[in-house]
Amino acid sequence: MHEDLREVLVDEVRLQARIKELGRQITADYQGKDVILVGILKGALPFLADLMRAIELDVSYDLMAVSSYGASTKTSGTVRIIKDLDEEIEGKDVIIVEDIVDTGLTLNYLLENLRSRKVNSLKICTLLDKPSRRKVDIKPDYNGFEIPDVFVVGYGLDYAEKYRNLPYIGVLKEEVYTK
Ligand code: IMP
Ligand code: MG
Repeated sequence: MHEDLREVLVDEVRLQARIKELGRQITADYQGKDVILVGILKGALPFLADLMRAIELDVSYDLMAVSSYGASTKTSGTVRIIKDLDEEIEGKDVIIVEDIVDTGLTLNYLLENLRSRKVNSLKICTLLDKPSRRKVDIKPDYNGFEIPDVFVVGYGLDYAEKYRNLPYIGVLKEEVYTK
């Protein structure tokens, strides 16, 4: 375990097993559909890469980047598109792929934004869900793990751009972000 961590919340084996399960669910739910996975940078990248390989359908993917926390552990509430999709998504079955739903503000904005592009359907697949911190009423359609109100890093999730490359989800020691 990385020395800045207090504990491992989801180890690599559980993580990968759950992602395979989510892939199977999506495969079953989207037979005959024109699926595009929209990964939200940067945090969703490892999840998107593993999830798409667990889906046995012809899917495409695209990437979006929106502003988030920066180096702070608290949300600002303001969402801004930094990188938009390369492709038109009109008429497609879109699945937003996120690392974590926390306050829900980011997804609330994204749902509204993508829905206005006249998609056929729009769902959310998140690896982690922290429902206790929700500020807007949003429920992910697919969720890997529900977690308590702790700041987590690893498998795409960062603190000040660090720890994204860890292959598991861990809880950061408080002294790391209060010093
Ligand atoms: P929301 O808009 O508050 O739901 O925030 C979603 C974004 O905040 C995620 O995509 C993450 O980038 C970031 N975030 C929320 N909670 C955590 C955490 O525990 N660790 C790392 N990043 C987090
Ligand atoms: Mg972040």
